[in-house]
Amino acid sequence: MSYYEIQGGRPLEGRLEIHGAKNSVLPILAATLLAPGESVIENCPRLSDVSATLDILRLLGCRVEWEGDTVTVDASALRACCVPESLMREMRSSVIFLGALLARVGEAELFYPGGCELGPRPIDLHLAALRTLGAEILEEQGSLCCHRGRKNPGEREICLSIPSVGATENAMLAACGREGTTTIVGAAREPEIVDLQNFLLAMGARVCGAGESVITIEGGAPLHPARYRVMGDRMAAATYLCAAAAAGGQVEIAAVDPNTLTAVLACLSQAGCRLHTGEGFIALEHQGLLTGIPPVRTAPYPGFPTDAQAVLMAALAGGRGSTMFVENMFESRYGHVDELRRMGAEIQIDGRVAVVTGVGRLHGAALRGTDLRGAAALVVAALGAEGASTLTQLRHIRRGYENFAGNLRHLGAEIREFP
Ligand code: EPZ
Repeated sequence: MSYYEIQGGRPLEGRLEIHGAKNSVLPILAATLLAPGESVIENCPRLSDVSATLDILRLLGCRVEWEGDTVTVDASALRACCVPESLMREMRSSVIFLGALLARVGEAELFYPGGCELGPRPIDLHLAALRTLGAEILEEQGSLCCHRGRKNPGEREICLSIPSVGATENAMLAACGREGTTTIVGAAREPEIVDLQNFLLAMGARVCGAGESVITIEGGAPLHPARYRVMGDRMAAATYLCAAAAAGGQVEIAAVDPNTLTAVLACLSQAGCRLHTGEGFIALEHQGLLTGIPPVRTAPYPGFPTDAQAVLMAALAGGRGSTMFVENMFESRYGHVDELRRMGAEIQIDGRVAVVTGVGRLHGAALRGTDLRGAAALVVAALGAEGASTLTQLRHIRRGYENFAGNLRHLGAEIREFP
């Protein structure tokens, strides 16, 4: 079983260029299905979720090449519309293939997706959005048989009761294949949605409004392949910043837009970190213990991102003072808390509320990753702790962080990876 060995207490120093964004490249890769021909996606991170997505594209008949950080997808010979359950279960974003296949071939046979265990992860909003577009969807024991349905050019409006990132992306892709005007009201506003819109525009789609809560798509026009460079991964950037806050030191994270992390940067500043931002970079400096900050409530963008909750908590657990977290996005996203308690963390949980009381410094322990961001949070805590820690279940890390241990070593951390 692969594991990390981490020696805490070493400050982090240096500059790191962040890899491409997992939560942007996955829907963009699915969107390459929308047009026959060869699309080229640059700044594609080496992640297991990306590998799983490329496996789905190959299985559907696409020719796929991956050289360095550039992926080429030729979707000319798309010949299938079925994705086996084993591949669907690899990750949450496999459900985005539903909208892409309906737009390109008019039918799809998929299964309910997998993804981090964060509590119930329904896809009712995805299915309702596609049905508004006219899709006929038969659900049976977790399988989804879908057909585009009768042509109904004209206008239609999709109303999302929750600004679901995935449902917004699915609706955008499916609407590209529907003649007429589709308006998505209550859309998610995440920067990754804007990145997807930019890729669709490069393919010749007529989409506008991404980044706001109303997105409009003029669908039905044939699209063409495109070359596109994916945005930097803001959640990976937040993770490295929290690591430097926990361990102390001075780091610069490049190739990320600081405007996409304003809520996280505000919390780090309140906790005592010195931050400096500019075009495409965030610099953080911190010595000593972090202090408690006002309540952190996760919310849809531009609120505090749920994906940064665990890593910020891990950094604050080894500081001074108390902080209350309220996890509003997922029912059970505190899987990392029991592991942090093994390191001496004082955290009280009551439903969606977690109150962290900083204990000065945590101590090393034998740790187990529970989910993608929770596992990364345990590394953050171990880097700031006294003594040595080990972390198993690295498969969670490999889903969303490219060369995590190598990048941390580059910044001065004492972390070794055993295969
Ligand atoms: C995306 O997941 C991200 N994943 C998640 O990142 C992120 O935490 C989440 O958005 C919120 O920002 C990817 O982009 C691949 P949602 P997604 O639909 O689309 C409920 C990570 O760590 N909901 O915005 O699945 C849902 O249960 C991952 O990188 C429904 O009720 O999230 C949740 O409570 C974890 N019905 C809320 O909406 C639906 O049909 C937000 O979920 C869909 C969602």
